[in-house]
Amino acid sequence: MNSEALNSLNDIDPNYPVPRVYDFLSRPESSAFLDYVFKDPFGCHVFPGDISDYPLASFFEDMDRDIKQAKQIHLWAYIPTCRYRCHFCQYPTVILNPQAASSQEVFRDLVDYNIKEATMWLQKVPSLAQAEVGEFNIFGGTPSLLPEPELRRLMDFYLRHFNFSAATMRFEGEPGTLTKEYLRLLKEQGFTKISFGAQSFDDRIISACGRMHSAEECVETIYNARELGLDWVSVDLIYGMLGQSVDDVKYDMEKTLELELSHVVCTKLHMEEFMKTRTGVSGERQSLWQKKGLININNMTFPGLGKQYQMRELVEQYLSSGYREHPTMYFHQNHQQPEKWKGIITDLDKQYPEVSIGLGGSSKCTRAEAINITGYKKYKEALDEDRLPIEGSRGVSPLQREVNAFKMALSTLIPVDDNVFRQRFEGRSFFDNPIISRTLKTLVDKALVTADGDVVTLTPNGMTLVEAVINTQFVTPEA
Ligand SMILES: C[S@@+](CC[C@H](N)C(=O)[O-])C[C@H]1O[C@@H](n2cnc3c(N)ncnc32)[C@H](O)[C@@H]1O
Ligand code: SF4
Repeated sequence: MNSEALNSLNDIDPNYPVPRVYDFLSRPESSAFLDYVFKDPFGCHVFPGDISDYPLASFFEDMDRDIKQAKQIHLWAYIPTCRYRCHFCQYPTVILNPQAASSQEVFRDLVDYNIKEATMWLQKVPSLAQAEVGEFNIFGGTPSLLPEPELRRLMDFYLRHFNFSAATMRFEGEPGTLTKEYLRLLKEQGFTKISFGAQSFDDRIISACGRMHSAEECVETIYNARELGLDWVSVDLIYGMLGQSVDDVKYDMEKTLELELSHVVCTKLHMEEFMKTRTGVSGERQSLWQKKGLININNMTFPGLGKQYQMRELVEQYLSSGYREHPTMYFHQNHQQPEKWKGIITDLDKQYPEVSIGLGGSSKCTRAEAINITGYKKYKEALDEDRLPIEGSRGVSPLQREVNAFKMALSTLIPVDDNVFRQRFEGRSFFDNPIISRTLKTLVDKALVTADGDVVTLTPNGMTLVEAVINTQFVTPEA
């Protein structure tokens, strides 16, 4: 077994109970799981296809066909600008000083390129213009750096060229830049949902990860958004960061309850490279923490795996009565709705197409998926040459389509119902799929899921380890 990973698992805070998954992860037969969670890549955002070198023309045909059949789609634009680079972040970013005169040109270019890319998509996929957008997201990076005229220009384009008749609009920002005026602008533009990263409510931890805002600014942003009637505010927190103790996560959870956050995303620190697994908004480089490794930095250390799972258990404990987790990592208050965009792309009865415009984006339908170029220079070159900035596309074979549907359904943490599955796949049961049925036997043996008649449910250990389940267990028999 990987002794480094095992040592990390044994790093446990004596003031808290040994985490539930400890026994499972410490067994020699669980080494695939332990190896996976030791570094942890982003594992629940893209479900790769199994046919490589898939022609782009086929990808667009598949998208067109699936979009025509789907009730709704998830549409998103990615704006990569940031005013600093967080030490954990692998996302493709363009770092700039928002006040500098030269930055204004970058913002203008970014919007121009985004509009050009979206226009090319509309030409290649004729059904896109009419497709009902279920949720529109502006992700980042830090889109809240976009100057007002540029944001207006971008939104004007999307609202005129896509079908927003049923769309909710969600915007991802960063607390230091989501000023009251900016929030007002977002509301005026039709955004009703705001999301931003706090990562922690402790200034010491926030600054150790290289961020240039305070916990107080996060709290102000939440209150300002509420005051303006933007009552959907989602805050991202990370556990496992440099200098973070189990007590610190307890503090973050106390703050979450005190602030009555409607939505909170609690993610374990991901240290593995995106590109190894092709998951997430694809990054092209390592984060600063990856480069340095899990070592002491400024006399601060990273909590080991044992502590990370103690942290995860605290999150579950604090949020168990007032919140539900759907999908994994995304918590919403019981009386609130879960994240709509996530439901659109992962709930078993939907799994509708997703179209992403911008650096590093990933688009998919049931039959194919593609990821965009992640380097800004190459991205611009492609569009300057009238090519869509797509790095690669993959097709999904009929068997893999079922596997992906099942894996996505697992990631929602909702029990997977074969009756719903059969409706999606012309009467075929997931037990008829050799990869799924073989994997299910293993997962039942490992007590990570229970299979009761037509319904497969993750056990508490299965929920905690769902990303590892999805990314290590569903292998084709010949692999
Ligand atoms: C790309 S950011 C967008 C939000 C905005 N840029 C901000 O930082 O406030 C989305 C979220 O991904 C999470 N994230 C990014 N890199 C991560 C990593 N290596 N491990 C865990 N979570 C990460 C952070 O919680 C971050 O807020
Ligand atoms: S976490 Fe957010 S603000 Fe920090 S570098 Fe990444 S995208 Fe930019």
